[in-house]
Amino acid sequence: MISGLHHYALEVPDLAVAEGFLQDFGLETGEKDGSLVAMCPGRQQEQVRLVEAPAKRLHHVTFTLRPGTTDAVREALERSGTPVIEPPPGATEDGLWLRDPDGTAVQLLDEPQASARPVAEVLVNMGGTRQRFDVAQWRTATEDVLPRRLGHSLLFTAQPARMTDFYTQVLGLRVSDTIHHDLVTFLNAGPGDHHVFGFISSTHRGFHHASFEVPSIDAIAVGADRMRAKGHQAGWGLGRHVIGSNFFFYLRDPWGSFAEYFHDLDYIPESCAWEARDWPESDALYRWGPPVPDDFGRNREVEG
Ligand SMILES: [Fe+2]
Repeated sequence: MISGLHHYALEVPDLAVAEGFLQDFGLETGEKDGSLVAMCPGRQQEQVRLVEAPAKRLHHVTFTLRPGTTDAVREALERSGTPVIEPPPGATEDGLWLRDPDGTAVQLLDEPQASARPVAEVLVNMGGTRQRFDVAQWRTATEDVLPRRLGHSLLFTAQPARMTDFYTQVLGLRVSDTIHHDLVTFLNAGPGDHHVFGFISSTHRGFHHASFEVPSIDAIAVGADRMRAKGHQAGWGLGRHVIGSNFFFYLRDPWGSFAEYFHDLDYIPESCAWEARDWPESDALYRWGPPVPDDFGRNREVEG
């Protein structure tokens, strides 16, 4: 029923700091219903919403539904004993609102995902492929480097099995892969990205990271350079993940969580013939790149 992640929303103590970070990251910002919103250039879809509050905290997550599945979602919610709720302050009233087993507000919108900004075809000379002749790639390699779309987000949870059951059995996501049972869980929404959502096991709920697709590996490096030049702290990268296979670079956001640039993520085809695997922790995180920072999995969000 869920077709993808629409946007995520955080409570943060200082909207001006948030706006500076998001703009430097490559997003366009604006004000909507008293909240700060951020969009990817060239895409008509809110991707981030920030509500002012004393401490940084996950506020809600919003998903799009496949067309015509709203009634099926209502029935599934009823069957599972999940009530429809009023929207939380700072959010829009559209769609269906509920709380997941962690108590996080979830919005379900009966609308399609907006198209990502179109990008030029890239001719490569890689592996056995020879496509580019008499063209110097550096001339165009860094022309289009800004985020095109929000791809996924991973949340902390103290009850990964229960959260996974809820999002798969009630809201229709599927397990893509797991690390060490339910230490980390990656979920897909059918044909499309290897993961659109997921959970990291923790002592309490929280927001770990959100990830934005950029047009190329050059775009990841240029984005990382731009963030460094503007005084933001690198998080982890550049590397290639194992689960999802994407190139990654994580920036530390102003609140101890992460914003990720990704490129070249595994794609789950129409047939949904993807075979989920459970990975040992030692093999699962990355194929190459710098060592994982010690605090990468630390949940700094206030409990409650
Ligand atoms: Fe990610």
